[in-house]
Amino acid sequence: MHFFHYRDGRLCCEDADLAALADQHGTPLYVYSAGTIRDHYRRLSTALAGIDHLICYAVKANSNAAVLDLLAREGAGFDIVSGGELFRVLRAGGRADRCTFAGVGKTRSEIERALAAGVKSFNVESEGELERISEVARAHGAEAPFAVRANPDVAAGGHKYISTGKSENKFGVAHEDVPRLYARAASLGGLRPVGVQMHIGSQITEAGPFALAVERMLPLVGRLQREHGIGFFSIGGGVGIAYHHSLASGAEEWWGVRDQPGLTLAGYAASVAPLLRPLGLTILLEPGRLLVGNAGVLLTRVLYRKESPAKKFVIVDAGMNDLIRPALYSGWHEIVPARQPAADAPRETADVVGPVCESGDFLAQNRELPAAAPGDLLAVMSAGAYGFAMASTYNSRPLAAEVLVDGDRVDLVRERQDEEELVRGERIPPR
Ligand code: LLP
Repeated sequence: MHFFHYRDGRLCCEDADLAALADQHGTPLYVYSAGTIRDHYRRLSTALAGIDHLICYAVKANSNAAVLDLLAREGAGFDIVSGGELFRVLRAGGRADRCTFAGVGKTRSEIERALAAGVKSFNVESEGELERISEVARAHGAEAPFAVRANPDVAAGGHKYISTGKSENKFGVAHEDVPRLYARAASLGGLRPVGVQMHIGSQITEAGPFALAVERMLPLVGRLQREHGIGFFSIGGGVGIAYHHSLASGAEEWWGVRDQPGLTLAGYAASVAPLLRPLGLTILLEPGRLLVGNAGVLLTRVLYRKESPAKKFVIVDAGMNDLIRPALYSGWHEIVPARQPAADAPRETADVVGPVCESGDFLAQNRELPAAAPGDLLAVMSAGAYGFAMASTYNSRPLAAEVLVDGDRVDLVRERQDEEELVRGERIPPR
């Protein structure tokens, strides 16, 4: 459930009027709902009541310090993939011993920092990485806790770029090779087996693939438990959210995509819990999008309208540098006006495009929308995950500002970047 709704014809985030936020802070502007994030976190935790579990929020989805702080206060752990994310988590008050460190390309210095900080686990993606971690740990007279990421070879995920659980992906270690890595770890030294991990993809909107992957992992998990005494099984992230009709569906105690009502949060939990409970292990989850996706919107103002013989264009002040999902994954985000249109307001089919000099710079294509005029404020829904986190300054466009709303409280949680910051660190060689 999320807390974006029209109140007296004005789109609000919790008790804050989005048009007022745009006037105050300018656009493009990311706005997040603290209540929504908390609601999602608590709902997921409740759905897993009865199973010893730790929710390790996937920081990559939205790494704003305020979001990390909020989740740390809820008791969340964190799934990190870089030294930068570790830095952010610690700075926001997150606990290193609740962090799992994933990713296929950890550098020596990242490993050293994570070891010194005392992360819960290194999620190992290759034999070479296992050797490197062992070497670093031994050099420091330490023992590095690790879990191998096993690839269950299950196809799932909303787009080929975000499917990770198939054997042709770069992620994880082939299922059959995993026991050998634990044996190798024992002979290498400096390593302590603490768990095993899997992750099959992102934006998965049915329960089947999760259950199938867990089922495939069970014999392996049991064996690692017996032979190496592991304490946790991380089932990764990947639970999909509603992008279509996200505004309408937010009011319901209902999860998933309305067009494919395959997955509810309860359904997800119900499909994996019976398989997991008998293990008696701690179950780790690494949700990113599920917690923050529908908790954020991107506000953008219409600059111009333009018509070609073939198309209508609504040109807005947010571009692919602010939200790259439509361009990169054909991601579909609902776009709604901040002023609720009358039921009989004229509608049109248009492309909503940004100012960036690329044909791929669109937020929506061939979209039926209430006709929008210059000056109108639009909200791009479900932009809380992989929105700002993937933003760039392409075309020398400063990064957008971010606001966190909590009830009637509004905090600017990231200032808009200014042009001096845009060039910080750049130098013209002396002549
Ligand atoms: N755990 C691992 C090991 C991951 O690789 C990921 C996401 C997650 C957890 C969190 O997945 P989530 O619960 O958010 O689906 N930028 C893409 C999504 C990339 C996901 C990468 N890995 C998008 O905008 O759709």
